[in-house]
Amino acid sequence: MSVPEAFQGRMRLPVIAAPMFLVSGPELVLAACRSGVAGTFPALNARTPEILDEWLGGIDGGLAAQREAAPDAPCAPYGVNLILHASNPRVKPDLELLVKHRTPFVITSLGHPGEVVEAVKSYGGLVFSDVIHAYHAKKAIAAGVDGVIAVAGGAGGHAGTQSPFSLVREIREFWNGTLILAGSMSDGASVRAAEIMGADFAYMGTRFIATRESMAQPEYKQMVVDSAAGDIVYTDAISGTNANFMWPSLEKAGFDRTQLSISVGKGKIHGIADEAKAWRDVWSAGHGVATIHDIPSVAELVARMGAEYDAACATPPSKACVRRP
Ligand SMILES: Cc1cc2nc3c(=O)[nH]c(=O)nc-3n(C[C@H](O)[C@H](O)[C@H](O)COP(=O)(O)O)c2cc1C
Repeated sequence: MSVPEAFQGRMRLPVIAAPMFLVSGPELVLAACRSGVAGTFPALNARTPEILDEWLGGIDGGLAAQREAAPDAPCAPYGVNLILHASNPRVKPDLELLVKHRTPFVITSLGHPGEVVEAVKSYGGLVFSDVIHAYHAKKAIAAGVDGVIAVAGGAGGHAGTQSPFSLVREIREFWNGTLILAGSMSDGASVRAAEIMGADFAYMGTRFIATRESMAQPEYKQMVVDSAAGDIVYTDAISGTNANFMWPSLEKAGFDRTQLSISVGKGKIHGIADEAKAWRDVWSAGHGVATIHDIPSVAELVARMGAEYDAACATPPSKACVRRP
C-alpha cells in the first residue's frame, strides 16, 4: 500500500471523485477537496484552453483561501484528466497549463503517459494512469507513473470487464506503488472493502453525478437515482469503445435494446459519430446506481460515507471463523 505524501493527512476519506466528461467542473472539485476527498475533472470539460486556465486559477485560489481560513481542516489535493487519444488536439496546450498551475496530480487515459510523466515530474506533481487490464498497468508503470487506476467491471464511463477482486490482486502481485480502484463503489463500506483488497484509494464517479455540485442536468441526476443495476447497458454502440450507459437514456435517443446486445462497433448506429454529442444525449453511469437514492451536497455525501467507512472499519471478523494458535 502506498499513499503519496501529497495526500497524507489531507483527506477525510481515501476517495478520489473521478473525472467525468460533461459532469465534473470547478464547483464539484472545490466541494470535494474542501470536504476532504480529492476532486478531479477532465481538461476537455473546459471548452477552450483559455477557459481551462481560468478554471485552474479559480481552483488554486479557492483551495488556498480554504487552507488559510482553516489550516487544521483536511483539504484534499485536486487532479485533472488528460485524454491522450490521437484524436484530442488539445493535449499539448492543456499539458502546458497543468505545468503552469503545478496541478497536484494528472490522470491520463487512452494513451501512453510518457510525455506527461516527464512534464508533471518537472514540478513535483504526480501522474496516475487508468487501465482495465494488468497488461496495461505494466506498460504505465514502465513509463514511470506514480499510480495505477484499475478500472474494473461495472464502472461508469469506459469500463473494463474484470472483477475488482481479481484485478486488484493481480496488479498487487507486481506493483507496490499507489493503486486506485474504480468501479461500482457508492458508499463508505465499499471504500473500506477496496482498501482491504489492497487498493490505496477508491475512485468514485457515478455516485458524484447525483450531487448538487455536479454539472449534470437535473433529469440526468434523477435518472441515476431512479435506475437499478439492471438498467446499465455495456455497449460500444455510442463511441466505438465499450462503456456503460443508462438504458432509459438510450431508449430516449432511439436505440433498440436488441441492437445493443451485439457488437455493432464504432458508434455508427443511428449516425451518432460525434463523441461529445453522443455523451450529451446518452447518459453514462455504472452499476453503482444500485444504491444511489438521493442528490445530496458533496459535503453531506462525504460525511455520510465517512460514517459508513468508520462502521466498516469497526466490523469484527465473522463468527463462523475459529482462529487456533
Ligand atoms: C458520465 C461519466 C463520464 C466519464 N468521463 C470520463 C472522462 O472524461 N475521463 C476519464 O478518464 N474517465 C471518465 N469516466 C470514468 C470515471 O472517471 C471513473 O473511472 C468511473 O466513473 C468509476 O466508476 P463508477 O462510476 O462506477 O464510480 C466517466 C464516467 C462517467 C460516469
